[in-house]
Amino acid sequence: MIDIHTHILPGIDDGAKTMEDSLAMARAAVEQGIHTVFATPHHQNGYYMNKKQDIVNKVKQFRNCLQDLNIPLTILVGQETRIHADFMAELNEDIIAPLQDTSYILVEFPSFEVPRYADKLLFDIQVAGFMPIIVHPERNQQIAEHPSILYDFVKKGALTQITAASLTGRFGKKTQQLSYQLIEHHLTHFIASDAHNTSSRRFILQEAFQLVRKEFGWDVYYTFMENPQLLLENQYVHRVEPILVKKKNSIFKIFP
Ligand SMILES: [Fe+2]
Repeated sequence: MIDIHTHILPGIDDGAKTMEDSLAMARAAVEQGIHTVFATPHHQNGYYMNKKQDIVNKVKQFRNCLQDLNIPLTILVGQETRIHADFMAELNEDIIAPLQDTSYILVEFPSFEVPRYADKLLFDIQVAGFMPIIVHPERNQQIAEHPSILYDFVKKGALTQITAASLTGRFGKKTQQLSYQLIEHHLTHFIASDAHNTSSRRFILQEAFQLVRKEFGWDVYYTFMENPQLLLENQYVHRVEPILVKKKNSIFKIFP
């Protein structure tokens, strides 16, 4: 398995604190059957700044440690980039790190809202030749209340990634329910761990994928298994025409 969203690099965000932590996470990933992980530290989220070159350097260092200890895990460069006013400028200045020099970029919204400029930014990113992947939309409050916002973004070309732990219920029943709905309505294209450690926010990809197989069948399972590989090869990923999630009891269908 390939995990496209992790906080496995030591000491640069709220993920692994030390190299020991990173190595423990690496061993846990291997135990899960993961052979490749993208290291995607936070950038511009109000707490952490991690420019592409710094991430590249850290990844090199970590790879050397893994090699010395014979831990069979490949680490690739990535970044979880919060949307912000200078996003396009930073993209041009090589501060933003697409996933291992592919066209794919992990894009994060603030937890509670979707900024008004998000629509234009997602468009601009695509015009610049990149493919935005909105991370954990199921954990965004505004999207949870108005899933039609996400439908519009996907309809206009954006991809999305849900968190394994959201599917298994770690973030509560509502988030789990929305994650299921996003799969059913073709509104998500990747499942990733967003692992931060080996305890409270660990790798549980195996568990999530088995759940997907059981609940949605083999076709959906293979779609989620294959998309990270297609991404890595910088090919188009599997996607199906999205369906609008109709919220029960909602009378506000036009203006979310
Ligand atoms: Fe993350």
